[in-house]
Amino acid sequence: MSAGRPEGRYGEDVFPPGQAGEGERIDFGALAYDDVTMARLRALGAGPGWSCLDVGAGTGTVARRLLDEAGVAGVLAVDRDVRFLAARPGLEVLRADVTGPDFLPGRRFRLVHARFVLMHLPERERVLAALADHVEPGGVLVVSDAVDLTSDRAPGDPYAVAMRAMWEGLRATIGTDVSGVPSYPRLLRAAGLLPVAAEMHVPPLVPGSPISRFWADTWERGRAAMLGTGLLDDAGIDAAVRYLRSRECAALSAGMLTAWGWKPGETPSG
Ligand SMILES: C[S@@+](CC[C@H](N)C(=O)[O-])C[C@H]1O[C@@H](n2cnc3c(N)ncnc32)[C@H](O)[C@@H]1O
Repeated sequence: MSAGRPEGRYGEDVFPPGQAGEGERIDFGALAYDDVTMARLRALGAGPGWSCLDVGAGTGTVARRLLDEAGVAGVLAVDRDVRFLAARPGLEVLRADVTGPDFLPGRRFRLVHARFVLMHLPERERVLAALADHVEPGGVLVVSDAVDLTSDRAPGDPYAVAMRAMWEGLRATIGTDVSGVPSYPRLLRAAGLLPVAAEMHVPPLVPGSPISRFWADTWERGRAAMLGTGLLDDAGIDAAVRYLRSRECAALSAGMLTAWGWKPGETPSG
């Protein structure tokens, strides 16, 4: 690794999609957040006639719900790895790297959506500006990412230590950074969108819930990166998983901040 920017990448050095159970891990996250995401997208108007782009679509849960529940006209689901995505009427699947230059030449959408993707990309500000270019006049860009809510007031808490090691380990290996997520409204404004707004959702850490299972799976898969921080050892990760599964758990999940901004211009009819 260079002294400055990490050389690792999502899907290669951490969270490889070919590793057994990676689709299930993404689905646990989707189960925890999809209802909130869909409520927001529908409140913004996603519905019949809308063309949509879902970037880093993962297992495609949002893309499918946009079609099945919101009744949008079509969704293009883009991911670096499309093994969990199956095309069907209305759902186009494209394997592409959003950090590449001009990753989707000439295409514009009423809705551009990216959830839990930008935070993993060291070039997130440039990618966010590129995503704004893919929004048609009158359309909306919606980005969601995690906000760390662990507190320094619980230094010995196994959950807080594991969370800290996870964020620090992911930052060192692939450049994940959630510290800038609260700045997303400002970044959307800087990308020429107006007006912008944001909200946050924190799913309850109930033992056995999708979000609790998501974090336990994420720590399992990110174990090497977490151990590399020196903040904890294997026993520390195991203790944090036991804590998550127990009724003693009294911690806050990371929240999901969703920010959106409108592309100035006429809303197309239809
Ligand atoms: C944490 S998952 C989120 C999946 C989905 N958006 C969700 O919220 O359920 C991150 C997704 O982004 C994809 N991804 C990561 N880096 C990417 C890149 N440079 N270009 C395209 N997709 C990328 C990964 O392959 C993975 O499917």
